[in-house]
Amino acid sequence: MQTDRGQFTSRFGFIMAAAGSAVGLGNVWGFPTNTASNGGGAFLLMYLVLAFCLAYPALMAELVIGRHTQANMVTALKSVSRGPVMRQFGRFAGFYGIIVASLILSFYSIVAGWMLSFTLEPVAAGAGMASASEWLTNFGTERNLLFTAAFSLLTIWVISAGVEKGIEKWSSLLMPALLVILVLLIIYVLFQDGAMEGLKHYLVPDFSRITEPKLMISALGQAFFSLSLGVGTMLIYGSYVKKSENLPKLGAIVTAVDISIAFLAGLLILPAMFVAQKNGVSIYNETGALLSEDTLIFQTLPALFDTMGDAGLIIAFAFFTLMSIASLTSSISMLEVPVAYTVETHNLNRRTATWIIGLAILGISAIIVLNFESLFLFVVHLTTRYSQPLLGIAICVFAGWVMHRHKILEEVKQGLPEVEKTLFWKVWPVYVKFFCPTLILLTFIQSLRG
Ligand code: TRP
Repeated sequence: MQTDRGQFTSRFGFIMAAAGSAVGLGNVWGFPTNTASNGGGAFLLMYLVLAFCLAYPALMAELVIGRHTQANMVTALKSVSRGPVMRQFGRFAGFYGIIVASLILSFYSIVAGWMLSFTLEPVAAGAGMASASEWLTNFGTERNLLFTAAFSLLTIWVISAGVEKGIEKWSSLLMPALLVILVLLIIYVLFQDGAMEGLKHYLVPDFSRITEPKLMISALGQAFFSLSLGVGTMLIYGSYVKKSENLPKLGAIVTAVDISIAFLAGLLILPAMFVAQKNGVSIYNETGALLSEDTLIFQTLPALFDTMGDAGLIIAFAFFTLMSIASLTSSISMLEVPVAYTVETHNLNRRTATWIIGLAILGISAIIVLNFESLFLFVVHLTTRYSQPLLGIAICVFAGWVMHRHKILEEVKQGLPEVEKTLFWKVWPVYVKFFCPTLILLTFIQSLRG
């Protein structure tokens, strides 16, 4: 059934929505910490190469399939396939994508909930509510459940309002706000003592590490997660793009924005770590490696803000607001995946579908919170480490082998009549057919061998 599907009303709206999906905890948290623990500038360099050579082509595959089929991932992959076997495979890959998107959302909401509670903490501390501020920052089941639920409700609320009034409106408001906060924070931190040492650590490449398989695996995983690939997020956003838009250009802008925000986040996080060290906060663990992951965000940086007095309260508030915004524009894109499928194939209205699915995913988040030790990392690895690369390969196969080349050409031509003369058309079709799936597969196998 074709419903009134909704459409991005402007190019700016699409770019903000797709960049909003891409820019998330992966950029502000994952990228800087990955860079810190993988040889600084060497990782940055490898990331730039992989993002443009592997992630961008895969992003284009999703955007093209989405806009061509005007449908959710299941319907889309099925409808570009010929023959019963391929159609079945398309259906399977589509469902797999929807399930993985939902599971990613289930753990993402938990982490985003922490961001919300850390945003409130400086408010509580400023108001002199010491025990509230401690409760907000201490890892506890009640706090986790409450803030996961609060964040999930925000996500549900935006998605139930639809493509224009929900996704586009909020992304267009929140993404510029995110950029402003990020730039202000960078300026502030760069003027603090110790910041230059952090910059050096970030930008000077340790080339001896660039050949390490671990560096490449991390960079590719980071690029795929950061561009929200494989699970149909970009596919469904692509399906809301007007036919008159130039897809290769839009995809390139989204990739560039994503990379730029990750780069900027590095300019904030790494200098902040070394400022923290100057202020007496330890930033290395027992083995001498830089602290990363949760310790960095939830202990090192808050400890740094504590040393800054009253200014620290404002900085902490701004920083965690930034993290919360980045999370929300990403989480809505994950929820859109199962919601679009349900609306389009089960004849349910958007509001009802969003609430049912959103609450079901919140239920999964609650199960993870209640069994945190055993489930959290399991779900993270199952989805991002194992499923996303496999789905990425599947999407390249659909765009490179299953979909007719002339159909792709027709699709892209609608917004770019001279496409045949472009570098994009000379390179991309061959690339997405042979190079992308092979390289993703090789990296995946390498990562399994550990
Ligand atoms: N890209 C987002 C980030 O960097 C997260 C994200 C949104 C995502 N949608 C996704 C990741 C789909 C994987 C799949 O935080």
